[in-house]
Amino acid sequence: MATVKENLLRATALTESDSPRLDLEVLLCHLLGKSRAWLYTWPEHPLDEAQQSSFDRLVERRIAGEPVAHLTGSREFWSLPLKVNRATLIPRPDTEVLVEAVLATCPQVAASLLDLGTGTGAIALALASERKQWQITAVDTMPAAVALAEENRQLLGFENVQVFRSDWFSALGGHTFDVIVSNPPYIDTKDPHLREGDVRFEPLTALVAEEQGLADIRKIATDARRFLTEGGLLAVEHGWDQGKAVRKMFTDSGYTSVETRRDYAGRERITLGRYGHFCA
Ligand SMILES: C[S@@+](CC[C@H](N)C(=O)[O-])C[C@H]1O[C@@H](n2cnc3c(N)ncnc32)[C@H](O)[C@@H]1O
Repeated sequence: MATVKENLLRATALTESDSPRLDLEVLLCHLLGKSRAWLYTWPEHPLDEAQQSSFDRLVERRIAGEPVAHLTGSREFWSLPLKVNRATLIPRPDTEVLVEAVLATCPQVAASLLDLGTGTGAIALALASERKQWQITAVDTMPAAVALAEENRQLLGFENVQVFRSDWFSALGGHTFDVIVSNPPYIDTKDPHLREGDVRFEPLTALVAEEQGLADIRKIATDARRFLTEGGLLAVEHGWDQGKAVRKMFTDSGYTSVETRRDYAGRERITLGRYGHFCA
């Protein structure tokens, strides 16, 4: 039987991965129910027959390009373990910049927040973990994504979040919110990156938008004005090359204090603005 160490040496077969060794460590931890520290402590531990054949299948699927998060069924976001599946986007570390920006901008007082296109519930649940006094609404148009976000909400036990289906604002009636956040689809339908890496296994409903990727952001910026309380905040994630266009969209729509924050790689990724008169 091959040992932990011998199985990790198979990383050389993952030629298309940016992090082959880490991928195998995560898959092995998932399979054995152990931590990465355990793998390093017990490199000579042999896998039994059933474990070895399960690991072989996982490695084959990873070599074929399937995202590690789909193979394990989970991904950590804002230190929260979230279930993931093919219904929606696998949460990305870059989106934590949106969470940070909202937390830094909004004081620790009671507030209502709407997360549009919640997917796994990543943004809504991360904010709920930091602001117990907020009332958070999380919506998605895909029923399977709504079910996934609700499952994550229940697993994490956040009572201040409600999840339901809505095509952007369609099911929100006359509700208004102090903060509206969204990481909507923003990739151009013709972007060649759609044929590379993890995104090949994610639904186009979570990824692409018309108008060079800007159509959904435009709709959100336009309609959010009717759903924000006086001086309310809109914060959206967008592509690294869309900052200028999104700032113009916000300004043309009447938002003020419009600014763009950068991700950990220094690229413009989050634009924020306020609508109406803001009383701090
Ligand atoms: C880029 S993913 C973001 C998922 C999650 N918020 C995150 O940051 O990981 C965009 C999400 O928007 C949802 N979506 C697409 N069109 C929508 C619409 N018309 N109304 C509501 N949600 C929509 C997709 O189903 C998907 O879950």
